[in-house]
Amino acid sequence: MVDASFVPAFPVQALWLMLPAYVSNMVPVVLAKVFPRWNAPLDGGRAREDGTRLLGDGKTWRGLIGGAIIGAVVAVLQAAIPWDGKTDFGLTRYGAWWAPVVLGFALGLGALVGDAVKSYFKRKSGRPRGTPWVGPDQLDFVVGSLVFAVCAGILIDVATGVAVTDGWAWQWLIVMWWIPLFLVLATPAMHWIVNVIGYKLGLKQVPW
Ligand code: CTP
Ligand code: MG
Repeated sequence: MVDASFVPAFPVQALWLMLPAYVSNMVPVVLAKVFPRWNAPLDGGRAREDGTRLLGDGKTWRGLIGGAIIGAVVAVLQAAIPWDGKTDFGLTRYGAWWAPVVLGFALGLGALVGDAVKSYFKRKSGRPRGTPWVGPDQLDFVVGSLVFAVCAGILIDVATGVAVTDGWAWQWLIVMWWIPLFLVLATPAMHWIVNVIGYKLGLKQVPW
């Protein structure tokens, strides 16, 4: 059974858990600035019959892989903060040092996969790259990272011999259902603020 007393109070714990995904979600924009030539698109340039791209040039391997790696790095740094075990997502108590690596990688990868799935439906519905799609544009990465976090959590539980219903993913994201619900509701507001800042700094072409 996961002991909830080791974590900071809600909603800090929820935001702490999501931090790798928040950082990962910003990574592709920065990498696009730093490595403009590494621009191989996820869809390989493939188009539908009507000529529109499956995902478009805005979804690259650079962004996907970079986001996943940085997600893992952020989670490892978070877990390494020595504060009564309160910063490790309740994971390293399992005795598996690699658990934050897996969770952070999953949060980052899930964020960018969610973003790419969003773009698939965005293109399919006739919205060109970079046009706003209020709702999906803000929710894509949080839903993606939460789905991947549940999968990663179950993987960690199984690998460390913890019964799934006593395990990390189940206790944090299903029994404590208000954690994912809060993240889904609060993230679009924060995402919007971050994008406006990115636009003002000239990192993004558009304020969404
Ligand atoms: N980016 C990337 N690889 C990804 C995701 C994003 O390289 N997997 C970079 C691209 O340079 C992209 C920018 O980050 O233009 C902003 O990301 P986003 O807003 O998600 O992409 P858009 O270009 O707006 O495309 P879409 O309309 O499909 O959201
Ligand atoms: Mg966009």
